[in-house]
Amino acid sequence: MSEIRLRRPIEADHRFLVGSVDDWWGGRKLHMLLPRLWFQHFTGTSWIAEDGDRIVGFLVGFISPDRPDEAYIHMVGTDPNHRTAGLGRTLYERFFDDVRARGVRRVTAITWPGNRTSVAFHRAMGFSPADGGGTQNLYGTPAYPDYDAEGDDRVVFSREI
Ligand SMILES: CC(C)(COP(=O)(O)OP(=O)(O)OC[C@H]1O[C@@H](n2cnc3c(N)ncnc32)[C@H](O)[C@@H]1OP(=O)(O)O)[C@@H](O)C(=O)NCCC(=O)NCCS
Repeated sequence: MSEIRLRRPIEADHRFLVGSVDDWWGGRKLHMLLPRLWFQHFTGTSWIAEDGDRIVGFLVGFISPDRPDEAYIHMVGTDPNHRTAGLGRTLYERFFDDVRARGVRRVTAITWPGNRTSVAFHRAMGFSPADGGGTQNLYGTPAYPDYDAEGDDRVVFSREI
């Protein structure tokens, strides 16, 4: 693998990524979670990873307008041919450094409890799942049933930075 370079997204990156995420997520139909607006309005807090001229990873997130000390990561993905080589960690750590310098002290990310890779990744990255009232053990992880809609269970991960 040649050297991976991180840069800010531009709007033109949307086409490739929206066409890649279903494959990158193992065939789950998730591209509707990545509309173009992420590449229009959140480029200042998001990241693209490139290997040469090929996009091999991305992170889209933002600093909460309502909670200025909190940032939210909406989606992270790495090319299946570049997994478990530290790229997801690199994207998260760059995001942490970036938002910490702007006053953020806490980062939140939400995932489906059945996405075992995502759950393991977030735990490895120092995130803890909310386990208070309203959570149940789903797929082995505390999660909120019907969090986003009926049947859309979610783990609410957070960590201090
Ligand atoms: C989750 C994902 C981004 C991880 O990317 P990656 O480049 O493989 O991650 P890294 O190599 O940087 O791994 C970071 C940590 O997560 C752990 N991890 C990554 N994949 C894992 C897996 N499948 N099982 C267990 N742990 C895993 C690593 O062990 C590593 O821990 P360490 O640094 O303490 O050794 C990648 O698997 C992916 O894109 N999956 C599909 C999309 C998805 O589910 N995104 C998350 C929900 S938005």
